Amino acid sequence: MGSLRKANSDQVGGAAGVAGVADEARAPAARIVTEVPGPRSRELFAREQRCIAPGTQGFALLSGLVMDHGEGATLTDIDGNRYIDFIAGINVASLGHAHPRWVEAMSRQLRRLSVGSFTSENRVRLTELIAERAPGDLDRVQFFSGGAEAVEAAIRLAKAVTHKYEVVGFWGGFHGKTGGVLGVLGSPFKHGLGPLMPGLYLTPYPDCYRCPFKMTWPGCDFHCLEFAREMIRTETTNAIAAVVVEPIQGTAGNVVPPPGALRRIAELARELGALLIADEMITGFGRSGAWFGVEHDGVVPDVMTIGKGLAAGFPLSAVVTRDELARTPPWSNPSGSSSSYGGNPLGAAAARITIETIRDEELVENSRRVGAAMLERFREFERRFACVGAVDGKGLLIRVELVRDQAKRERLDKKTCEGIFLRAMRRGLLTMAYASGFRVNPPLVLDMATAMEGMDILEATLAEADAEL
Ligand SMILES: Cc1ncc(COP(=O)(O)O)c(C=O)c1O
Repeated sequence: MGSLRKANSDQVGGAAGVAGVADEARAPAARIVTEVPGPRSRELFAREQRCIAPGTQGFALLSGLVMDHGEGATLTDIDGNRYIDFIAGINVASLGHAHPRWVEAMSRQLRRLSVGSFTSENRVRLTELIAERAPGDLDRVQFFSGGAEAVEAAIRLAKAVTHKYEVVGFWGGFHGKTGGVLGVLGSPFKHGLGPLMPGLYLTPYPDCYRCPFKMTWPGCDFHCLEFAREMIRTETTNAIAAVVVEPIQGTAGNVVPPPGALRRIAELARELGALLIADEMITGFGRSGAWFGVEHDGVVPDVMTIGKGLAAGFPLSAVVTRDELARTPPWSNPSGSSSSYGGNPLGAAAARITIETIRDEELVENSRRVGAAMLERFREFERRFACVGAVDGKGLLIRVELVRDQAKRERLDKKTCEGIFLRAMRRGLLTMAYASGFRVNPPLVLDMATAMEGMDILEATLAEADAEL
């Protein structure tokens, strides 16, 4: 349901341009049969709330839903309500839910071997698959379990290679919540969590919609990156080991930098004698309509960190780098860069089948095509609805700025955004509209008809919100 595997569903919307015309013959992907949340969800959710610590993901809390199962780009709750999923576990469910190839490969592996760091056939093939697809000469891979762990490992590698110790990140950047990367988290999220690790610096990201310098691209000629140069000269001890950057910023709101920005950032890293770490946790493996986000700007970083969609739900992340860098001790010493779970037989099976499926089902191409159609609908929303301030995106990574005032770019308040989220949910669509930096990132298997059905729900919801504003 709702994925490329569904026969013929891909024709709708494609044939009708992107008008979102529903196919008469097609059963809707969304199906609401109770009030939402339904009685069983309400009961189980309330029970969990008695023991689970506060702080689980905001949209899950806001929804109050208890999920039962998923299929393709849809999720079904315990009361039998089916939702189109535009969240994908925040970019994790690249193959959607319960993809048969993934389920089959994982079931087979579970019966054979789950634990240990011995070489496995799957891991051999997996490292080859990553090396074949990674940009330029990046052909050495080390595995970890989570995103923050991989970025920390990349920073350790940069320190080992450069014998320097400072790191530059960007406003809006997100690389995880552990100690070594909290300081390169470019938002107030870290308030109250100090002191931070010393030697971490932040500088404005090329976010042209919300330029802190109130300048306009291309006339600004990347003033923000010139500012970075000055900031580094003035504030650091001139010992920059790494510049860490998301090719498109996810957590900040799917912020796409203008063309050339990443090349300028790569130049800056080179000038500083620092490694460029491209954090592709979100942008990697087809999400942005290319295998990797750096490809949009033709940049080959020194190190790439990958995770999330890489294994379609199994917690696996990795550092990918060049042979010459990977050989640097102490990173390269036996056990120097490994971890307990990274690259275990289950993780290797999950990532291998995920990459093979992305390749075989042409999901990078699908991301580009369906994403372009969705973006066109969003552009129409931008023209029609005053609460849509700006839209942008690449592939199935789309930015929607919800605003109170288009001219002033004033952010829509949290309460109104949460109302949009809840209304869409009650119509059968799960989105990240609960924040003014509304991120749209559905599973890569999303077919055109389901995408357009989701956009129709969003259109009705935004029209309602707009009228009330
Ligand atoms: C770009 C990026 N890097 C790193 C991370 C951290 O990943 P994890 O939550 O698996 O530690 C995230 C998580 O959202 C991310 O978006």
